[in-house]
Amino acid sequence: MEESDETLIIDGAATAEKVRGEASEMLKAARENGVEAGLAVILVGEDPASQTYVRLKTKDAAECGIRTFDHRLPVQTTQAQLEALIDECNADPDVHGILVQLPIPDQLDPEAAIARISPEKDVDGFSPDSLGRLVRGLDGMRSCTPAGIMRLLEEYDIDVSGQHVVIVGRSTIVGKPLALLMLNADATVTVCHSKTSGLADICREADILVAAVGRPCFITGDMVREGAVVIDVGINRTERGTFGDVDFDSVAPRCSAITPVPGGVGPMTRAMLMLNTAHAASAVSAQL
Ligand code: GUN
Repeated sequence: MEESDETLIIDGAATAEKVRGEASEMLKAARENGVEAGLAVILVGEDPASQTYVRLKTKDAAECGIRTFDHRLPVQTTQAQLEALIDECNADPDVHGILVQLPIPDQLDPEAAIARISPEKDVDGFSPDSLGRLVRGLDGMRSCTPAGIMRLLEEYDIDVSGQHVVIVGRSTIVGKPLALLMLNADATVTVCHSKTSGLADICREADILVAAVGRPCFITGDMVREGAVVIDVGINRTERGTFGDVDFDSVAPRCSAITPVPGGVGPMTRAMLMLNTAHAASAVSAQL
């Protein structure tokens, strides 16, 4: 096979390591200026997937030199208790980033909780302030998964300008902010979702196809144009193992580049959280 015919497997783990290195450098500079970065990690309840994510984020933080403040709240926590903890973290000068791991138990209102986080400590980039700034094209915290996808494409010199980007999934965490980041980078963007008719036809028009639907192996080879770039955001745990939203075996041979699961977008999400925390600490350091 000619080299140009081979599918590029985008290495998220390697790029994440590079991003963590950048975060570490920024954190070192802040430390030398007397600011030791701190990240408050709030986990409510005992969702096993959330516990895993939180453990991995805490490990990454330690590696980068970020102090973590671990807050484990019981499943029956009230909104008032959760918001009191967020207020405490907002007021704590040792905390530069606040992360409320989602989902939270049903009796709690995630929108109110997220809106409560001070914008300068919103390292997940989920708050109305952060999203509003993104819409307006202003500096601010960017959601980690969409920012990680943009960074991966940049690292691999995949220019999105003028390209047709089709995003399958309209979540507030991934689909919507990614659409805005792509628009800001001059891509032509189509966002599809569960009510979209003619989904496969639209997907086949993508130069860059992003799958963020949360359904294992949902995107199959027949939905992908020959030579497209495919970004798989899914992490679906099933009895048969963990799968992305893309059916790798049928899609990979058709496309020019693809992110694997695991080892693609997932590690980038965590690395961008470290970078956002480093930016938050640097901003405080710059004010000294
Ligand atoms: N739940 C799923 N993804 C995320 C994430 O990126 N951050 C938080 N806080 N919760 C999540």
